[in-house]
Amino acid sequence: MPKKTISKSKKENIGGLLHEKRKFKPSAQFSKQANAQKSIYAQAKKDPIKFWDSMAKEVIWNKKWTKTLQWKTPDAKWFVGGKLNITETCLDRHIAEGRRNKAAIIWEGEPGDKKTITYFELYRDVNKFANVLKSLGIKKGDRVAIYLPMIPELVIGMLACARIGAIHSVIFGGFSPDSLRDRINDSECKLLITSDGAYRRGQILPLKHDADIAIADCPSIENVVIVKRGDFLLRVKEGRDHWYHRLMQDAKAYCKPTYVDAEHPLFILYTSGTTGRPKGIMHTTGGYLVGVYTTTKYVFDIKDDDVYWCTADCGWITGHSYITYGPLANGATQIMYEGAPNWPENDRFWQIVEEYGVSIFYTAPTAIRAFMKWGREHPDKYDLSSLRLLGSVGEPINPEAWIWYNEVIGNKKCPIVDTWWQTETGHIMITPLPGITATKPGSATQSFPGTEAVILDENGKQVKEGGGLLAITKPWPGMLRGIWGDRKRFIETYWSKWDNIYFPGDGAKIDKDKYLWVLGRIDDELNISGHRIATTEVESTLVAHPDVAEAAIVGMPHEMKGQCMIAFVTLGGNIQPSEKHENLLREFVSRKIGAIAKPEKIIFTGDLPKTRSGKIMRRLLRDIAMGKVMGDTTTLADPDVLNKIKQRYEED
Ligand code: WT7
Repeated sequence: MPKKTISKSKKENIGGLLHEKRKFKPSAQFSKQANAQKSIYAQAKKDPIKFWDSMAKEVIWNKKWTKTLQWKTPDAKWFVGGKLNITETCLDRHIAEGRRNKAAIIWEGEPGDKKTITYFELYRDVNKFANVLKSLGIKKGDRVAIYLPMIPELVIGMLACARIGAIHSVIFGGFSPDSLRDRINDSECKLLITSDGAYRRGQILPLKHDADIAIADCPSIENVVIVKRGDFLLRVKEGRDHWYHRLMQDAKAYCKPTYVDAEHPLFILYTSGTTGRPKGIMHTTGGYLVGVYTTTKYVFDIKDDDVYWCTADCGWITGHSYITYGPLANGATQIMYEGAPNWPENDRFWQIVEEYGVSIFYTAPTAIRAFMKWGREHPDKYDLSSLRLLGSVGEPINPEAWIWYNEVIGNKKCPIVDTWWQTETGHIMITPLPGITATKPGSATQSFPGTEAVILDENGKQVKEGGGLLAITKPWPGMLRGIWGDRKRFIETYWSKWDNIYFPGDGAKIDKDKYLWVLGRIDDELNISGHRIATTEVESTLVAHPDVAEAAIVGMPHEMKGQCMIAFVTLGGNIQPSEKHENLLREFVSRKIGAIAKPEKIIFTGDLPKTRSGKIMRRLLRDIAMGKVMGDTTTLADPDVLNKIKQRYEED
């Protein structure tokens, strides 16, 4: 094969980051067939409420709304008076409109098992499982926890809850028993759906075993439904635990949808919080559906013959909005893959793209950087010509990764949509529209029609060109409606920085062409491989270890993960730090929170640098971790402490 070279990037400095200078224009060929036409921006700008109102008419309602938006900061009510069941848009409508035998989910398990589920089959299973949930006493408004690997039953479980108006709370399968327990208890879930186990990189994760540990301390759980994924060892507690396949055998085939108010909660999804306690982000039904339906249609340009693949896990918001609800609301065919991209080999994703003819591919920059590192010989072995659109989400994408994605995966013919949004926003907020927006690598470009993101300074003054804080000035349909059980925190976190404006917690820039560049979080949260982790959560976990007296976490740039965590730890008593301790504490965090929270490195220190008022000086720790020269240390209680830490770090 001829050696193909990747074009050299020409860079310019944007907000302290080096970005590709070239601008990529949409191709006429793509524009011609695109779902979104140029006029969409002007129309939505003229009357955003009318824009969302017209989009709402494209989904299924049982009763039409009387008012599109009722807004009193920070409380939005969208489609007031409307009633619906979200599963009618995602399922019933497709059965009625000729997609009955269309593949809804093409699933591939990590060990290589395969399954295609048509819209009718999905509809049938969701109905049956909704009846199962009912028979186990689940009613409208009850919370159901879902702790599953990426198997179709995860989507079925979410939709079955929605069918009967129950609120699902999906907890990522990589979370520890403690994390699962805290999330179940916070929203008092009555039922847990889990599986006997899961496959990950050829390893077996004992999900049910972990769930047992968690629910030993979850008084609200009355029943557990276990999906059989393999032949994993487990204990079944008579009366409480039930096998999914047995319950499904006897379940009635049809379950009448429970119509709920547009503002009825659809789900709770936990995301990290700066106080160390995760926040139960609450989303409701009508606005969320309209938001994910619209953004999927226009950002991913989905057509009936597309094969769409979002590589996220349903344990995160990306999986909720762009696996479960958005694509199904659009009647799409999608790939669902259970495992890791490098199992059994580094080419697994490209093998899947070729095999099923994937046309739209949505992944995270951290994955793209991993693909780059593994080498282009893996994608080059496969026919990727079915691809026509690429997406990126979760963190800023560096220019090298963008160009590699464009040239090696997209063969320079696929528009790239770099989509900015959050668990809290529910759907994409800043993005190019394929076929319309010219792209700049690393810039999520502009607000999605009907939404408005701007850059403000601390005082709320708009920055026309330059750096500042990202802000959202208008209510949008999929916006979070609160933090479960914590109104005060909801207001403090998102609505206190400026008047009537949402604060997402990101720093950003706007350039002379009005392009937005989201630079990253400005609070105590880190973004590691596209996952948000609060430093305080990891710190409090570390100090919970009997050997640890004090701990401070700082974020550092990481080549693959975007960011990583360095922990500074002071051991208690006379314990001497050793490598053994480093491994032990890293494992401890992994066990207590989940592998994603494991610090990259632990630096032991006799003391932590503090101000006179006792605040840990993270800035200095960060400088040490970065190997930088020390800054001004005069505010330190004991400047010598810092020298010692610095010395230790340099020794390592
Ligand atoms: C945070 C949200 C969005 C779904 C997955 C993550 C960062 C997200 C981008 C992007 C730059 C991005 C932000 C945001 N982020 N997408 N395209 N460019 N930064 O959801 O876990 O709620 O994290 O991810 O910092 O606030 P999440």
